[in-house]
Amino acid sequence: MSGTIAASVKQPDLSGLDELLESFSLEPGSTQRSVLIPVLQAIQERYGWLPKDALRRVSEHFGIPLSNIYGVVTFYAQFYLAPRGRHTVRCCRGTACHVRGASIVLSTIEQVLGVGDGETTPEMAFTVETVACLGTCFLAPVMMIDENYYGKLDAKKVRQVFKEFRKAVESPEAK
Ligand code: FES
Repeated sequence: MSGTIAASVKQPDLSGLDELLESFSLEPGSTQRSVLIPVLQAIQERYGWLPKDALRRVSEHFGIPLSNIYGVVTFYAQFYLAPRGRHTVRCCRGTACHVRGASIVLSTIEQVLGVGDGETTPEMAFTVETVACLGTCFLAPVMMIDENYYGKLDAKKVRQVFKEFRKAVESPEAK
């Protein structure tokens, strides 16, 4: 999923990108899409996201229209058009969570972090996303921070989770 960040987006140094692009080739008979996805994955692995200048270079290098590249990038949730926070918060907005108070969970996340769906905190600590179902409806309403599930949430529990998470991440043992 693409996202926005509160601070302006700084484009990374793209030296070395040409060598990366050279390592991929459009084989006879292969489709543009078949080379494009591995190329985009490699770029994202290197930079953590897909800078727009890099996508322009991909377009020139492989002769793929930029609009087609954006079509692929925006279709697949795995690709990001903006830098990501160090931690990803996923708030479920599926039916089971919705009827058990997902909107309160999301609004509390927004209050605690100061950013909403698709946004990243200015210090690049958290990126917030909403998802259709986290697959743990029995815990509704649910959110995840990175790989950890937090269920049966209400506003108080959400605040507690972030308080404890921050404490754990900032403790000397966690560094
Ligand atoms: S609807 Fe929220 S986990 Fe399934």
